[in-house]
Amino acid sequence: MVARGAGDPLGRVVDVLIVGGGAAGLRAAIAVAEAGLECTVLSKVYPMRSHTVSAEGGAAGVIGVGDTLDEHAYDTISGGDWLCDQDAVEMFVREAPRELIQLEHWGCPWSREPDGRVAVRPFGGMRQLRTWFAADKTGFHLLHTLFQTTLKYPQISRLDEWYVTRLLVEDGRIEGVVAIDIKTGETAAVWAKAVILATGGGGKVFPFTTNAAIKTGDGMALAYRAGAPLKDMEFVQYHPTGLPFTGILITEAARAEGGWLVNKDGYRYLQDYDLGVPTDKPKLRSMELGPRDRLSQAFVGELDKGRTVETPYGHVTFLDLRHLGEERIEARIPFVRELCRSYQKLDPVTDLIPVRPVVHYMMGGVHTDIDGATPIAGLYAAGETACVSINGANRLGSNSLPECLVFGARAGLAAAEYAGTAAKPAARAVPDEPLPDGSGSGERIADLRTEMQRTLEDAAGIYRTGDDLEKAVGSLRDLRERAKKAKLDDSSTSFNTERINALELGCMLDIAETIVASALNREESRGAHQRSDFPKRDDEGFLAHSLAHQGPDGSPVVSLLPVTITRWPPGERVYGR
Ligand code: FUM
Repeated sequence: MVARGAGDPLGRVVDVLIVGGGAAGLRAAIAVAEAGLECTVLSKVYPMRSHTVSAEGGAAGVIGVGDTLDEHAYDTISGGDWLCDQDAVEMFVREAPRELIQLEHWGCPWSREPDGRVAVRPFGGMRQLRTWFAADKTGFHLLHTLFQTTLKYPQISRLDEWYVTRLLVEDGRIEGVVAIDIKTGETAAVWAKAVILATGGGGKVFPFTTNAAIKTGDGMALAYRAGAPLKDMEFVQYHPTGLPFTGILITEAARAEGGWLVNKDGYRYLQDYDLGVPTDKPKLRSMELGPRDRLSQAFVGELDKGRTVETPYGHVTFLDLRHLGEERIEARIPFVRELCRSYQKLDPVTDLIPVRPVVHYMMGGVHTDIDGATPIAGLYAAGETACVSINGANRLGSNSLPECLVFGARAGLAAAEYAGTAAKPAARAVPDEPLPDGSGSGERIADLRTEMQRTLEDAAGIYRTGDDLEKAVGSLRDLRERAKKAKLDDSSTSFNTERINALELGCMLDIAETIVASALNREESRGAHQRSDFPKRDDEGFLAHSLAHQGPDGSPVVSLLPVTITRWPPGERVYGR
């Protein structure tokens, strides 16, 4: 049994346990500490290895003269194809600039204009220059700033390289988690008055993604199994420019600096997709600065017209930066050059960069309110793990980092307030965790994972049909049964990564099922969810969030929840005009 005795550091009850050490988790930890409570950040990797570190382009927040909060809200809402909750968006755009200034005060080295003002760049689907950046390594600098800030608070402790296997919920109230210490293989209960899930998204359910290997949807699956619904899971974002072999992101900042997307004939094909016409200077919300869903769909249009180039790693179009010149590339997007040289063996100063759409972000996640609260008392979620929802059917680039900050802080504060009055859970024995071991006689974890990823890509990619989704429902159910008998080669206790992979596969299968079931239920096309068999947006039937609950047989049951509209009734999404 896994409970620890009194006096053991893990036997105590922490006020707030935060699962995940990326931007949302660390920002939440600082908020809890500033409220005067104690918290523990438990993460499966050392915090600086969290996926936030790889964010490149920037963080949106109104700062410039002429920009307004309403414009940021409208861009976000129209970009999200009217599926965002507008009360959440209004609050988000109000708090984002404050969070970015706070980061400045904590030491984040934002790039500056020659006169010393914080520099801002354009980003896809935004009508104003409002994306703050630290060259093209924004995530690294932002995460570093948060991490070093957490170090000054004695109230913040950490459990690095621990993996949560189960939430402890009693009478509808969170009491902590069961987790494995990856270093020793030991399992323990970690008791807490409140828990915040901030484990990021789950892009690894797809084969080709910008997401790090750690992004396996763990927090989403934990909440789902404990009874909290997952919201809007059918909305999976493809970023238009991934390097074809690795899926490494070539930041939208490259297009913000003036990069062009061209097809096999060197033609700027976006002009054929109602995204504006080429101009000398990048035009806001136009062509290469259109929203990601439209740009990824345009790629499929080029593929269908035979205007892409086939490579060993899929069909590609090209990102052309050559006209920007070496000096600008080095000054504004040096990491793009570094990545191209290291992973594609080319130099964007002189060469075209082959690119193709790549799974980048999940608009869906654990259903929360504006304070990150889930329907389970004391359980909160923030960042990509959560769906508040400010991203609707398609997130705008650079809204994700401020989302982590704004909602990390709000969830931290709300959890601290809750923990301040909540009763302490009584530490007790909880049943042993049935962990995957070498006793199975079936298939390898890696093979099952590959099959799951192919199933998702085939059925729930940029375009979907009911028939393909139906088939995927059956395939995923079958995979789930086969995963129970999977064979593990590694039976060691210390750093048994195969065992962690088996647990992660279980999480991914759960969330894969919710993606497919929600996509099947939504018989319309909106944002990143395009049904070839239902090509139009249907506000009468589907101006609503999807909520996926885990049913009694383990499969998702999907229902609809109305969207909150405050000031912007649904309209046409207009770009380039
Ligand atoms: O292209 C990018 O730099 C990605 C930014 C984002 O997803 O917010």
